[in-house]
Amino acid sequence: MEEIRIQKLLSRNGSFSRRRVEELISQKRIKVNGKVIDTFGLKCSPKDIIEVDNKVIEIDLNKERIYLLMNKPKNYICSLYDPNKRKKIIDLVDPRLGRLVPVGRLDYDTSGLIMLTNDGEFCNYITHPSTSPEKEYIAYCENPLYGDEEEKISKGVFINELNYLAKDIKGKIISSTKTNSTFSITLHEGKKHEVKLILEEIGHKVITLERIRIGSLLLKDLKVGQYRKLTKGEIESFGYKINI
Ligand code: URA
Repeated sequence: MEEIRIQKLLSRNGSFSRRRVEELISQKRIKVNGKVIDTFGLKCSPKDIIEVDNKVIEIDLNKERIYLLMNKPKNYICSLYDPNKRKKIIDLVDPRLGRLVPVGRLDYDTSGLIMLTNDGEFCNYITHPSTSPEKEYIAYCENPLYGDEEEKISKGVFINELNYLAKDIKGKIISSTKTNSTFSITLHEGKKHEVKLILEEIGHKVITLERIRIGSLLLKDLKVGQYRKLTKGEIESFGYKINI
């Protein structure tokens, strides 16, 4: 196999995202053939011995690629490690599937669709702003409607906490009562807590949040806590090419 940049090799192997590899290089935690590396440009092949924190990384680019779609329960964390020992979505997955990583994140208290994979390139593709698919959320919120929510959302909402203008968002009113309102929010980006912060800016603190769609993938009959494998067609519906 031709040599490729170490970021790409480790990400293809499903070990780390490219960004994480760059962090590890900056922290001088990666060795290639016994030498600590300190540049981002080094090219390697699966024949090289790559170590992270002195542990050899097994490189197997031919292993079966796994792509799952899960209906994440509320009160489960997406991180693979949690110092507070909260329940993790990865623990809901059959360990025989090997090491998988979540594709993006949902908050601890958010439920709904999340993908998991051992294909680091897929993870990069889906989370990169230029190729990330549209995602739709249903948010049940505090306060009845003021009436101008859809218009405000379509104009873009400035999120003070992030010092960021969230734009290209679609907001639709689903229902409302004397005390609460429910919205569908559709966006491409996935800044931390973005949906909650957008709604809070327009006077609606989110009580519950569920992701009901990623691209054309819907929850359908996937029960909370369950997962299924994605089909080749579903994976390629994101514009990503795979060989499985
Ligand atoms: N936006 C949020 O606020 N929370 C999520 O979990 C996902 C998107």
